[in-house]
This record gives sequence, structure tokens and C-alpha cells, in this order.
Amino acid sequence: MNVDNGYVDAPIMEGTDLKKEILRLKQEKNAVILAHYYQRPEIQDIADFIGDSLALAQIASKSTADIIVMCGVQFMGETAKVLCMDKKVIVPDMNAECSLADSCPADEFEKFVKAHPGYTVISYVNTTAAVKAFTDIVVTSSNARQIVDSLPADEKIIFGPDRNLGNYINMQTGRNMLLWDGACHVHEQFSIEKILKLKEENPGAKVLVHPECRRPVQMVADKVGSTKALLDYAVNSDCDTFIVATESGILHEMEKKCPDKKFIPAPPEDGTCSCNECSFMKLVTLEKLYNSLKYELPVVEVSAELAEKAIRPIKRMLEMSK
Ligand code: 13P
Ligand code: SF4
Repeated sequence: MNVDNGYVDAPIMEGTDLKKEILRLKQEKNAVILAHYYQRPEIQDIADFIGDSLALAQIASKSTADIIVMCGVQFMGETAKVLCMDKKVIVPDMNAECSLADSCPADEFEKFVKAHPGYTVISYVNTTAAVKAFTDIVVTSSNARQIVDSLPADEKIIFGPDRNLGNYINMQTGRNMLLWDGACHVHEQFSIEKILKLKEENPGAKVLVHPECRRPVQMVADKVGSTKALLDYAVNSDCDTFIVATESGILHEMEKKCPDKKFIPAPPEDGTCSCNECSFMKLVTLEKLYNSLKYELPVVEVSAELAEKAIRPIKRMLEMSK
């Protein structure tokens, strides 16, 4: 089967009940379907587990399935593969890159690390396995602050690749970590003016912001946190209206968990779109998921040599987040 274009493009028989067939194939092949909160609603609904980057890595590390289907972006599939080298890990569309991971090429990051001997290297999970190989501890937005806090106050730290998350952790912890100058094109796009206007139109609404957003957007937040932290905040809050400044896929789970509350996606600066979507995250469709399970393609490949290096900082994160 040809996957040159990044996914299996095989014809699907007319009338196929995709949901039913996905569940059948999953059972037959002892596969587990993991989906990030930014996936399309129908993908979230069919997944065995949905979660943020940390939860997905934790679930993958404990999985007893033979096949892990990661409905997310490439680095999520790579992280799962590094943690489960004996399993087949599938990302239904390998074109699902991540602009943040792309903002940190491994060769340039290696030079940066080598130019700063004596620094502990902390990398966000949104990086390639090659970058993780030069990393001491991986973090996600769920545990970054806790992990940085657990290091001695005088420890010299390099933090990459997200400058906004890095700045946020520096401010929260009073550290002066050396930051890689990377960013996510989706989270950097939120318009502070449009958020302030929404706040005016919805008095009392709470503003929920992912730490990958720029500082001015973080400053108007009632809660800054990972996708899971924002979800938990909405569930536990007495408030009934929320303006959500992260990828709009999270609204699906927010609305499911809180059917009586109102969630307004924060708009990007460009254009007239009312919400901000990660086009990479939206590449996985039911058709691609079905074909990927049927043909067990495309698989994530990581060499044993690279996996051996990349697994150390991931395992350290998982140990430190127990
Ligand atoms: P989380 O760690 O909150 O899941 O975020 C991952 C991500 O890709 C953010 O854009
Ligand atoms: Fe990467 Fe941004 Fe998409 Fe998250 S939202 S996967 S950081 S490009």
C-alpha cells in the first residue's frame, strides 16, 4: 500500500459504516485509539482515550495494545513510539506536523546546547525525537512549572522551544531560564483586541488561556494552563461563560462536560474566522483513521539508537509527574 502522500488513500466501499468498522478493526487487531483534545469532534468521540500531551504520553507508556493509533501530530506519535518500541504506532496522517516543533531544528538546537555547557536542558514535548535526544528533561504545559520548581534555585536552565511558555514559567518561578525563540503559529495568533471586545460583550465571562499564547493575552487571563487545566477550571468554576484562547477543538470536550455552560472561542488576529484551529490537528478524518487501521499504515519509525537517547528525558518527565 502506497503512503507516499502521508496517509493511506485507498478507496472505501460506498455505504461502509466507518464508525462501526473502526471499532471492529480496533478490537480485531488489539489496537487502542488515542486522540488529543484538538482533534475533530468525531475523532475525539471514537477514541478510547482523549487527553493533553502529558496524558497521551502516560497512557501510551502503560498500554498493553499491539497497535497504538495516535490521532494527533507527528511528535505525539514519535513520543508514543519511543515509549513503546515493541509496538506498532500509527499516525493516520503523517502530514500532521507542528509549527512549534518545526521552529526548533535539531541541528541548530544541538549547537545552542553545546554553546552553553553546564546548563540543564528542558524541552517541551512539542519537539522531534532528535531534539529530545539533546534534552535532560521533557515537560508538557501540564507539568512544566512543577518540574522547573523541583530543580535547585541556582540551576542554569535552557528551555525550548516555546518562548511564550518559557517566559511564563520564568515569571511564575522567578527563574531566568535561557529561552529558545520558537512559537506555535496557532497560539500566537490570538487577538488581544478581539478578546477584550468579547469580554465587554460578555460581562462576567472568564478568560482561559494556554501558556503558548503571547504575554498580553496571558495578562487578561483568569486562568493560564494546559488544555487539561483549562478544562478542569471550566468544570469546577461557578461561572457559566468562558472565552477560550487555545485551539478550538477543546470546546468539544468542554461542551460535553459542561452542557449548561457557554464556551466562546477566542478569535485570531487575521481574517474573519471566529475561532482558531490547528490545521495539522484537523488532518485526521474518520476515513483516514479507518484506512490506517485497516492497512496498519503509516507507521512511525524511530531508530533504536535515537529512541535510546530520546527516551531518557521522557521517562524522567513521567517519573517527575507521578
Ligand atoms: P497540551 O500540552 O496542553 O496538550 O498542548 C499541546 C499542544 O500541542 C498545544 O498546542
Ligand atoms: Fe503544534 Fe500549535 Fe498545532 Fe499544538 S496547536 S500541534 S503547538 S502547531
